[in-house]
Amino acid sequence: MDSIEPFDIVIFGGSGDLAMRKLLPALFRRHREGHLPQQGRIIGSARSQLSREAFIEHAEQACRANLPDDEFDDDAWADFAQRLTFASVDAHDSDSYANLAEAMAPANERVRVYYLATSPNLFVAICHNLASAGLVTAQSRVVLEKPLGHDLASAQSISEQIGEVFNEDQIYRIDHYLGKETVQNLIALRFGNTLFEPLWRRDWISDVQITVAEQMGVEGRADFYDATGALRDMVQNHVLQLLCIIAMEPPTSIDADAVRDEKIKVLRALQPLRGRDALQNTVRGQYQAGAISGQPVAGYTEEEGVPPDSRTETFVAVRADLATWRWADVPFYLRTGKRLQERTAEIVVNFREVPHAIFDTSMVNGNPNRLVIHLQPDEGMRLHIMAKARGDEMTLRPVSLDLDFGETFEARQADAYERLLMDVLRGRLFLFMRRDELYAAWEWIEPIMEAWASAADDPKPYTAGTWGPAASSALLGRDGRSWHEES
Ligand code: BG6
Repeated sequence: MDSIEPFDIVIFGGSGDLAMRKLLPALFRRHREGHLPQQGRIIGSARSQLSREAFIEHAEQACRANLPDDEFDDDAWADFAQRLTFASVDAHDSDSYANLAEAMAPANERVRVYYLATSPNLFVAICHNLASAGLVTAQSRVVLEKPLGHDLASAQSISEQIGEVFNEDQIYRIDHYLGKETVQNLIALRFGNTLFEPLWRRDWISDVQITVAEQMGVEGRADFYDATGALRDMVQNHVLQLLCIIAMEPPTSIDADAVRDEKIKVLRALQPLRGRDALQNTVRGQYQAGAISGQPVAGYTEEEGVPPDSRTETFVAVRADLATWRWADVPFYLRTGKRLQERTAEIVVNFREVPHAIFDTSMVNGNPNRLVIHLQPDEGMRLHIMAKARGDEMTLRPVSLDLDFGETFEARQADAYERLLMDVLRGRLFLFMRRDELYAAWEWIEPIMEAWASAADDPKPYTAGTWGPAASSALLGRDGRSWHEES
């Protein structure tokens, strides 16, 4: 394992939700487990004039609230708190960076991680002001949270301006889905076994389905969400990254660029969806009032801060096709949405029917082989195979080989952010998006956004607590397929 050198992590947006809910608890866990070197400081930074003590108190409350009871103890906290300090910085005010310089002095030779957990419209100002204040060294890294732009041009503009300060290998573009354990297990499954690779192609696979379903609504993020929508918020990044891992060719090594070179080929092979093609192969929906787990919930346009005439989609389903030898004619059905029936993220690989059926249909009860990869809420994989049911008759029915990662591996399950933060400290870029990947994803998404913007119709309504609009089932129904929905 690569060692971690002495570091300073500066969290911009240091008193915000992401820092408090994910980043500080993640760092505390790793501190408690002895994974961080003694010389490692964590500097919260925000515009507010917080004292160091007030910041530590806020962080302590957040860690207590966001970690299981048995993962918090006072001694470890007292020790961890020594690492913490706070610097008040106004992103646009270059003079205020002197506060940060003071907090970081004198350790110039340390690894410096600038984690930008702020609104993206501050990214460029922060990077330039860091450079002007002399705070960017060869050992510095910057971590960028999504959204990185709202279309191709804005993504390019942000990247180019940040590129004036940081080299590409100093830039860590986070997609927290890549930090999920099962996503990495998918890489292990595909490239650590001989079993699947020969089957992983159009000859044996009929279609792939990727579902990321949430029960949550917009949860106080109406301003952001209404300007963004599900396509930009989830498909452009998380869902396409999952698609890349499923569809990419075996990389020559696990090095960051070897993997990213293969992922970008997938993004470039996506058949463009423009105009009518986009409208025919996508479904957008918007939730109406309904019930989640038996509790009534409001419709999207009734949520606080959402304009009553909003046309923003809270649900998307897409049929994507890849123009490659491996995947020609294998549809990838993607869907994601808020206020859906269940919280689940899964990838379903459906295999083809047997080429020659010796059992007649009365003897076969069920579907052909299917591999289901669960990302959440539970992590695991399930391979459905056909077996003979007990009894005198030769009747076949599907049974499953289950692998539950929670049960199989004793180690505690790391949060995605925890894993990614450790990778940043170790200087491992393999799970982060390269600039060209970001552009390629936008290039595919943009024509869909344009087709929707010029379409006369609104997103299709769906009742909160269902699986989305009926048109989503029809999208697969016309190909003689249906979504995998297993309760
Ligand atoms: C974020 C989106 O990137 O991912 C949110 O902005 C979404 O809208 C979240 O809720 C989902 O992440 P997870 O890990 O809870 O599935």
